[in-house]
Amino acid sequence: MYLTKEEEQILNGEAGETLRQAIGILVTLGDIYGADRLIPIKSAQIAGVSYKTIGDAGLEWISDLQGKVKVPAILNPAGMDLEDWKRLRISPEFAEKQKLIVQAYEKIGIRCECTCTPYTLEGFNVGYGDHLAWSESSAVSYANSVLGARTNREGGPSALSAALLGKTANYGFHLDENRVPEISIEVEYPLQGSDYGALGYVAGKLVGSKVPVFHLRNSPGADELKALGAAMAASGAVALYHVEGVTPEIRMHGFEEPAEKISIERKQLEEVYESRKKACKEPELITIGCPHCSAAELEKVAKLLEGKMVSKEFWIFTSRELASRYPEYVRTIEKSGAKVVCDTCMVVSPATNSYSYVMVNSGKALAYVPGMCGAEAVYGSMETCVEEAVGRTAKKAGDSY
Ligand code: F3S
Repeated sequence: MYLTKEEEQILNGEAGETLRQAIGILVTLGDIYGADRLIPIKSAQIAGVSYKTIGDAGLEWISDLQGKVKVPAILNPAGMDLEDWKRLRISPEFAEKQKLIVQAYEKIGIRCECTCTPYTLEGFNVGYGDHLAWSESSAVSYANSVLGARTNREGGPSALSAALLGKTANYGFHLDENRVPEISIEVEYPLQGSDYGALGYVAGKLVGSKVPVFHLRNSPGADELKALGAAMAASGAVALYHVEGVTPEIRMHGFEEPAEKISIERKQLEEVYESRKKACKEPELITIGCPHCSAAELEKVAKLLEGKMVSKEFWIFTSRELASRYPEYVRTIEKSGAKVVCDTCMVVSPATNSYSYVMVNSGKALAYVPGMCGAEAVYGSMETCVEEAVGRTAKKAGDSY
């Protein structure tokens, strides 16, 4: 891999130990994957924030880092709401470690807004063709597929290294030849809302890490594409997908129909929803917001909950920025007894581990909650989640229990 003179000096330790380690990680990856050089990136998004997932070893590594990041960089969700962690009964010991992790990232210049939807934040713009080093799989999928930017599915350490250097190795999804559709997926019936998460859950298992192109009957919106990509990244390892007539790259440049073709039947999606019907017990916890809720999703939950009271734990995850931009939605949701929680999510927070049966409206959460939280998970639309949280004998706001 070609390195400039300055990059050689960094690799030789002349710019300090942190940068030597950082460039060492990128050069090793570049050599493994056949990169020709390092290329500049516009931003980085760093996973490996929750104390639940990185533990003391991760905290120690981050605390030793010196210097400042060279490009805008932001964190993935942490293990708790950083301002109101007691609400989900996080232990003080966990909270203390979590705060140390976030402070260590902040010390090197990373924006400590912890979200997997950084593309919804003001001042964190992503443009078509931008090279990025993002690590959370749903954010990677959205950046590549919906925004037409270019990023590999970075690990936490490689995204952090890229942020410190302002560069990444030029391989994988940074290159045109790895972005062409490899498998065609036909869906011959109209989809709506949570069907996209169910479709992603089914499709990811079938395509693994290939680049699919979907032929759909109707055009999904931004939140539906977000749900589709997040689910495929979790049940499979899809980092880039295209939708004919919708996603920017193939709309601008066209594409050659892949030789490999599959179709996904309605029945396969129904099986994802059927988990709820088959289950013999009631979910104890209902969660929405994987990936973090957009403004439109917050508005929709608020409308569905208006004037009602929930009878079960109901958590809605979003970024702190969106929660503070839309206090009216947060107020309506919380008036029902549901909780709007920021900086974290149902998968990376230890709070979910106290429940054995969880309902989600996300194909990604459906794939991850069992392994990461030790709870059984079932799938439902946002409307079903609200109905489940409110219960059959719904109480109105203002009624007493
Ligand atoms: Fe985001 Fe957590 Fe889901 S990081 S994509 S809400 S698993």
